[in-house]
Amino acid sequence: MLKGRSFVEPEDFSLAELDGLFTLAEKLEKDEKYLRESCRGKLLATLFFEPSTRTRLSFEAAMLRLGGSCLGFADPGSSSASKGESLADTIRMASSYADTIVMRNPKEGSALLATRYSSVPVINAGDGGHHHPTQTLTDLLTIRRLLGKIGNFTVGFCGDLKFGRTVHSLAKALARYEKIKMIFISPEELVLPDYIKSILQKQNINFIEREKLEDSMPDIDVLYMTRVQRERFFNEEDYIRLKDTYVLNAEKMQAGKKNMIVLHPLPRVNEISVEVDTDPRAAYFAQARYGMFVRMALLSSVLGVV
Ligand code: NCD
Repeated sequence: MLKGRSFVEPEDFSLAELDGLFTLAEKLEKDEKYLRESCRGKLLATLFFEPSTRTRLSFEAAMLRLGGSCLGFADPGSSSASKGESLADTIRMASSYADTIVMRNPKEGSALLATRYSSVPVINAGDGGHHHPTQTLTDLLTIRRLLGKIGNFTVGFCGDLKFGRTVHSLAKALARYEKIKMIFISPEELVLPDYIKSILQKQNINFIEREKLEDSMPDIDVLYMTRVQRERFFNEEDYIRLKDTYVLNAEKMQAGKKNMIVLHPLPRVNEISVEVDTDPRAAYFAQARYGMFVRMALLSSVLGVV
């Protein structure tokens, strides 16, 4: 039962609970009418202290499709945060108006903090470079839909593994499934944080770190590309030096397996050439759509209407 529960990182839900969400999301995808009015009268607050396209719009689309309503802000400059209001107070207010809060905030740990001051469930839509659990739901559902199951494959994470919160959440989440090998491909400056590596080591996950994408291409079943996270850099020069380290193009795709899938949480900048979009293995736009269905599943479950 997910009713009334917050979602700060993927491990907050058991594997059986995640499985239940994916099954529900698949049902919602197949039957547009299913649960259509189930959230009538319910309010979702979307508090976005950082930019977002997919996460905020897919949450709002999910809530509206379930018959509920949304309120909130997409720009902290238009909220009292700009007057110096603390996060604790903003959360107290939002939770006295809405039935669930979805929040994105640049500070690591902010989502957990929000759960302490909220009287309604808080869903983490990204806390700084830390975690992004609903993107992980999206990624896992996409893998399940396209590969048939989550397990028994090699995943290659490529790009900014240091600041990429989607990578942190997905790597930790995949560590709970069977027979998954991980290849982490990044420049030296952007390697996976030690705390994630030690979690993987404790769980005896088979993983390696590499610098070149080409070396790993033939081994990868799920290629997870990421953007270099400009907003988390201390200086622009480092960003400019690192931003185009990896560019996946048609030529590099030739070295990939025929049934490989390419995922990206989006937005992409330069790391996937547009020529790859028409390759049948490019799954990132489908992935973004699955994100809406899995968020419908999450909201309806947390709100207790299923
Ligand atoms: C990601 C994020 O915000 O971490 N975007 C998203 O929610 N799909 C990835 C990114 O911004 O690079």
